This record gives sequence, C-alpha cells and structure tokens, in this order.
Amino acid sequence: MRALPLFLLLAIIACSDTPQGGIGASDAESGVLAAAKLYRSKNCISCHGLDLGGTMLAPSLRGLGAHWKPDDLAAFLKEPRPWLAKDARLAETARTYRSPMPPTFGTDAERLALAQWLLSQP
Ligand code: HEC
Repeated sequence: MRALPLFLLLAIIACSDTPQGGIGASDAESGVLAAAKLYRSKNCISCHGLDLGGTMLAPSLRGLGAHWKPDDLAAFLKEPRPWLAKDARLAETARTYRSPMPPTFGTDAERLALAQWLLSQP
C-alpha cells in the first residue's frame, strides 16, 4: 500500500500547478467560468446586480432565454440602442430606467460567451 500515498501526492502537485483551470475542467466548464468573470469585469454587475436580479438601474437578466437567441443578444450587447426600436418589449423595459444600457466593449467572442452564459441562467 506504499504506492497509494505517493500517487496522491503527485495528484495534488499536478492539480495545484495547472494555470489553465485545473485538471478535469472541460473546455465548457472553463468557458462558463470565463463568462461569469466577464459579467463582473465588464461592470454588468453594477447595474444588473450580483445575482442577475436587477437593481434600480437595470432590469433582471433572468429568464432571457424566452426572448433572445445567442447571436442577437451578442449583437445587442455590442450596440444596444438599435434594438429598442426593433423590440417593443425591450423599449417598454427601457422606459423604466433612467439611463440606457451602454455598449459592451471587448471582442465578439467575449460578447458571445457572455450572451450564451446569460441565456443558460434560469
Ligand atoms: C449603466 C447601467 C448598465 C450597465 C453597466 C449594463 N446594463 Fe444591461 N441594461 C441596462 C438597462 C437600463 C437596460 C434596459 C434597456 C435599456 O434601457 O437600454 C439593460 C438591458 C439589458 C439586457 C436586455 C434585458 C432584456 O430584458 O432583454 C441585457 C441582456 C443586458 N442589459 C445585459 C448586460 C450585460 C451583459 C452587461 C455587461 C456587459 C450590462 N447589461 C451592463 C443597464 C445597464
């Protein structure tokens, strides 16, 4: 049974020394993590809230799957303004808040990851 502790030790060293998210984290899992981080780092949190539940500055972002496809949502994030003219529900929502949704800076890939992550939230 002496081999077992050595194996465990190696496993611990291997796990603690992986810069890209750790052994066992699939690409999908690390993608979800990265998108959740974008939600914080791109300041969405300050208007839409830590739990996506909305604040007095912006609506809740829960249940968006009923209203958006990923590509459209990514385009909205890039340039929100034109979507208010296209989408009566969104225009109605916008009337409730003092300032409009600002454009989301970054890459198309980041915006798509954010959109997919948002749509996966219940
Ligand atoms: C300054 C406050 C503010 C910030 C920061 C902000 N939003 Fe918004 N967001 C709004 C407002 C207000 C609306 C409602 C539409 C409007 O008035 O333009 C909105 C609408 C939305 C919608 C549409 C909701 C629906 O019902 O379809 C999504 C999705 C969204 N925001 C995601 C984000 C994401 C992701 C970020 C960060 C990248 C973000 N927002 C940052 C204020 C903000």
